[in-house]
Amino acid sequence: MKKNLAIILAGGTGSRIEGELPKQFLTLAGKTILHHTILKFETHPHIHHVFLVTNGAFMDRSEEIVRLGGFKKVVKILNGGDTRQDSSRIGVSAAGPETYGNVLIHDAARPFVSKEIIDDILEKLDTCAAVNVAIPSPDTIVEIDDGDFIKNVPDRRYLRRVQTPQGFQLSVIREAHRLALENNITDATDDCSLILKLNLAPVSVIEGSPLNIKITYPMDLQLAEKIMEIEREKKTGIW
Ligand code: CTP
Ligand code: MG
Repeated sequence: MKKNLAIILAGGTGSRIEGELPKQFLTLAGKTILHHTILKFETHPHIHHVFLVTNGAFMDRSEEIVRLGGFKKVVKILNGGDTRQDSSRIGVSAAGPETYGNVLIHDAARPFVSKEIIDDILEKLDTCAAVNVAIPSPDTIVEIDDGDFIKNVPDRRYLRRVQTPQGFQLSVIREAHRLALENNITDATDDCSLILKLNLAPVSVIEGSPLNIKITYPMDLQLAEKIMEIEREKKTGIW
């Protein structure tokens, strides 16, 4: 039986949060954001291994977080690339297809991924080669032109806000990154977009959670402290 792998992308610099450190190394409820994120995969019964793709300038700190957290499933810590797509390719390329069947690629900046989301992705991967996780938008989303006039109001029923983890049968995402490199495709902001751009497989969507935020701006840190409290009190029903 092949193993399920999680690749956690922590290779960014966190420029939008304007912190003293890349955001994955900032503290939330007494631990780093990276610690909280790794813990979600470490404690999931069906994730066998974790690769951590980190910012090379913070390799020592990353190794220390893994060691102090006692994270036994983290079997590789790799230097990331200049873009998220590069970091993802580096992680995926380091995964041997003889060992791993499914891979979940996750942003280190999303510490609130739930066990249910991981369960749902793994279940979907039995029948689909690529699985995205997304939530409906409570706001109407409009498309604008260069002059800031509304060009189009797409039907909200068909719009979703994409999160991570995104799940793949390893062979498919490996092929996507190989082709992207070969064809100089460098602008994919997430891995499912790469699959779609290259027309490699249909991408199925499962329902995410409004709590599964990506910590991006300074205000998100305050929001994240609140979500930690909600997680602790197991009151997720109020969201
Ligand atoms: N990421 C990565 N390698 C990069 C860029 C991003 O592994 N070269 C990771 C980030 O560490 C993050 C995830 O991809 O966990 C999502 O990216 P984003 O939220 O954009 O993080 P940053 O690029 O670090 O932040 P910013 O865009 O504000 O600089
Ligand atoms: Mg970024």
